[in-house]
Amino acid sequence: MRQIPVHVAIIMDGNGRWAQAKGLPRVAGHKEGISSVRRVVKIAADTGVKYLTLYSFSTENWKRPSEEVEFLFSLMETTLIKEMKELHDNNIKVRFIGRIRALPDKLQKIIEDTEELTANNTGLNLTFAVNYGGRQEIIDAVKKSISLGYSVDKLDEVSFREFLYCPELPDVDLMIRTAGEQRLSNFLIWQSIYAEFYFTETLWPDFSETDFKKAINEFTKRKRRFGGL
Ligand code: IPE
Ligand code: IPE
Ligand code: MG
Repeated sequence: MRQIPVHVAIIMDGNGRWAQAKGLPRVAGHKEGISSVRRVVKIAADTGVKYLTLYSFSTENWKRPSEEVEFLFSLMETTLIKEMKELHDNNIKVRFIGRIRALPDKLQKIIEDTEELTANNTGLNLTFAVNYGGRQEIIDAVKKSISLGYSVDKLDEVSFREFLYCPELPDVDLMIRTAGEQRLSNFLIWQSIYAEFYFTETLWPDFSETDFKKAINEFTKRKRRFGGL
């Protein structure tokens, strides 16, 4: 039987280039990128992917002009307000990972509302990484374990997971990055040690159903050894 990836993570890249190629401001690309998000969420749910994690804003993205950063946060707010109910109706459990406390209050409130509304859903686990950095996640986990007085003897790869932003999030099976770049950019470093990588030149706003299915199909052909034979 075809092996569908349990956890798909996507580095949604190329919004700016998509807009620039059309002579539009960069933010138009971010806006258009929402339609790709809707698309992949639907396909993931339909094809039986259990976890979909989307890189939405990295801890390094603060280096961008403040207008772009503000636009991104306000786009997240309006989109969540608009889509929250439909996500819930589709039995999708929505979560957020990252340094959420550093986000604007209004966005934090909507994040809280969305997580609360969808908390008991049993369908697709949809996770948005916002103000997320893989190194920061590990540092935050270490701090948490220390502050809880966790014993050094008990700490191992399994128990350490309990201190990550979302302990339930399994290792990444398929890591997709759009727009031609071939790097992790500080995304899910703990969870991706044995991820299969899929890179495409397609810019995020153009990422179609066919592109996503191609990535999943490519995954099914990979031979995973996890260090064994
Ligand atoms: C990805 O698109 C979206 C975010 C990082 C928020 P970019 O904005 O990085 O688009 P490019 O890479 O400049 O084309
Ligand atoms: C990675 O994209 C972050 C997100 C997709 C949210 P970037 O465009 O920020 O990555 P770099 O700077 O090219 O590595
Ligand atoms: Mg980029």
